[in-house]
Amino acid sequence: MQSLTSVQALRQARKNWRNADQKVGFVPTMGNLHNGHLQLVRAAKEHCDVVVVSIFVNPMQFGKNEDLDAYPRTLDEDKAKLEALGVEALFLPTVSEMYPRGLAKQTYVEVPGLSHILCGTSRPGHFRGVATIVCKLFNMVSPDMAFFGEKDFQQLQIIRLMAQDLSMPITIKGVPIEREESGLAMSSRNGYLNESQRACAPSLYRLIIALKEDIKGGKRDYAQLIEAYTAQIEQAGFKPDYLAISDAETLTAADENTTDIVILVAAYLGNTRLIDNLSFTR
Ligand code: PAF
Repeated sequence: MQSLTSVQALRQARKNWRNADQKVGFVPTMGNLHNGHLQLVRAAKEHCDVVVVSIFVNPMQFGKNEDLDAYPRTLDEDKAKLEALGVEALFLPTVSEMYPRGLAKQTYVEVPGLSHILCGTSRPGHFRGVATIVCKLFNMVSPDMAFFGEKDFQQLQIIRLMAQDLSMPITIKGVPIEREESGLAMSSRNGYLNESQRACAPSLYRLIIALKEDIKGGKRDYAQLIEAYTAQIEQAGFKPDYLAISDAETLTAADENTTDIVILVAAYLGNTRLIDNLSFTR
């Protein structure tokens, strides 16, 4: 596996793959790789000739009170995992390589509407940071396909829209959530949970499964369901941020005519904010 730190070296490698007519798959990450990330890499290996993974803890997507400095950095372990999967290239840019004029002066990309609801409400500026870095990485890697986890469902929809709106010739692939045996969605943030929070965390998924069953069973008063399940999330030991029953494409509130539904939830256990979702056709 080649480790590339400069955009120039990455572009040279890209040129060689293009000349050899190889299809390039891209998996952007912030490192601290778990099986969820590795599933993205496996999907990329399945569809493409060459797989590029990036590891960049993107300061632009962290809020002032968020965990940028504390974000886990495990480069040696990450490299070993990617080598074992046969990844061709690892892109490891520095902050100054990505933001040479500094963050304050950086041109940005913002997907309107979708960026300012749900997680965008409690994390202002987060999706601007995500869209900007992903756009820059796409311009550098120039992939044929890019792979994102469905765990970050809103992020995936935002990137799909960005690619469509900016006419990017890139196929965006969503990869299903990887879960622990308990049902807890895999996330780098799970590492922040203490023992009792770990025991509590899987109940979030169990509650959204129960909510899905209620909807499938014919319950249609979504406002009432949201109220009842938010109370249950609180009783289970979480501080709920939001619970939404949404249209799976637009992420706007579902109504009784919506057939493709996603349940989205964000809730705190202590200081750790967990998200999860479940999509289904009614
Ligand atoms: O999902 C993530 O890990 C990040 O938001 C991404 C897509 C790598 C952009 O920094």
